[in-house]
Amino acid sequence: MRIIVAYYSETGNTEKVAQAIHDEAADGHDVRLCKISEITADDLRDYELVFLGAPCHGSDLAPPVRKFLKAAPKSPGFKLAGFFTHATYAPDEYEGGEEIYQRWAGKCIASFETPCQEKQIEFQGYFHCMGAPSPPIEEFIRTKVISSEEQYRSYLSEVRSRPDSKDLHNARAFARTIISKL
Ligand SMILES: Cc1cc2nc3c(=O)[nH]c(=O)nc-3n(C[C@H](O)[C@H](O)[C@H](O)COP(=O)(O)O)c2cc1C
Repeated sequence: MRIIVAYYSETGNTEKVAQAIHDEAADGHDVRLCKISEITADDLRDYELVFLGAPCHGSDLAPPVRKFLKAAPKSPGFKLAGFFTHATYAPDEYEGGEEIYQRWAGKCIASFETPCQEKQIEFQGYFHCMGAPSPPIEEFIRTKVISSEEQYRSYLSEVRSRPDSKDLHNARAFARTIISKL
């Protein structure tokens, strides 16, 4: 199968996940790994399966990825699976995580699903995990999101190592599942 793993990443977190998905898919398939800036949305027509990745910005997929999806062709031959990284806890990782996740990353999934529905692109599912925030985002979280010093320290000690080897293992498992369905 011809597969492309295309991503946008500012500080390398989403890129690590993209690399893991690529490495899994490369076992038995013809796979290209690239940044979305290196291709046009029309180039996706050359593939049967597209993995598209983004960081979460402002609770949503980063704007360049939303723009890229908006430019995707209608009724193409390819199927699409999404992945994203975010600085907030995933719903199952923290008590009260669901509410925090919805507030800080809650628009990402719909931003994959809605354009796919509009363009009759078969959406296969998504993967997401935490990704270490850059210093200005850490500062934003420190001042605007987590008020308790103790909670902030515990959050930082967790998030700074993400995505970690478990996340990358899970990303590979996700890629395997998607590919095996097709
Ligand atoms: C401008 C900007 C806005 C962000 N907004 C959010 C947000 O709303 N929710 C969140 O969970 N993380 C947010 N983050 C954190 C990133 O999603 C996270 O650190 C991600 O892993 C970065 O991925 P990258 O290294 O591939 O760029 C934001 C980061 C930046 C730079």
